[in-house]
Amino acid sequence: MKEGNKGLKFYDNLDLSASQNEEELLDVYKKWASIYDKDNNDLLGTVSQPNSVQIFHKYIVDKNQKIIDVGCGTGLVGLELQKLGYTNFDGIDISKDMIDIAIDRGYQELFLGNLNDSLPLENDSYDAALCVGVFTHGHVGPSRLKELSRIVKSDGLVCFTVNEDVYESYGFDKEIQKLEVENVWKLLELRKQDYMKKKNVMGFYCVAKVN
Ligand SMILES: C[S@@+](CC[C@H](N)C(=O)[O-])C[C@H]1O[C@@H](n2cnc3c(N)ncnc32)[C@H](O)[C@@H]1O
Repeated sequence: MKEGNKGLKFYDNLDLSASQNEEELLDVYKKWASIYDKDNNDLLGTVSQPNSVQIFHKYIVDKNQKIIDVGCGTGLVGLELQKLGYTNFDGIDISKDMIDIAIDRGYQELFLGNLNDSLPLENDSYDAALCVGVFTHGHVGPSRLKELSRIVKSDGLVCFTVNEDVYESYGFDKEIQKLEVENVWKLLELRKQDYMKKKNVMGFYCVAKVN
């Protein structure tokens, strides 16, 4: 683990700080899946899921809107959506091991898909997309933000987090603005807030309306 980078070593055997290829990433989540929820709670103090859904809730009040949770993992975002009464949400993730845990967490449908490729989802098929914890070390870079807007209808919402460690170094700051200049979306909210509290890591929370 690099000195000075906060909260990257999730536990002794897992280090997501380095850029990884897909195979390595899948292996990390295969090992992590069964204790992911516990680590998020006990070790990392992750608050990105409830924080994201709270922010999302300000904009999407209709609980029947069709939502996709991209990089849904074990379904912690789904649990938060359920708590607030949302009824119509799907999930997609690259890791079958993570998805297997999300099965009973309120999702209508769960898909396997890789955000670094084209997702196996139609254009304009959702009212809103949530993507929490995916724009982080060695996962998915800023060039794939546009893919989220592709699957969301015009006037629909894209709501995502970016780990503060990679926000500027990977170029998320520039890409978020570029998509506004290119008229892909209109930025509604961008704030920095707690992300992994026990590791003192903050995250950027972004909400954009698709044009
Ligand atoms: C830190 S976890 C976040 C999971 C969940 N959203 C949450 O907040 O608990 C990151 C998730 O992104 C998924 N992921 C990583 N790279 C991906 C990719 N290229 N396409 C789709 N999912 C990906 C991982 O499998 C993992 O489930």
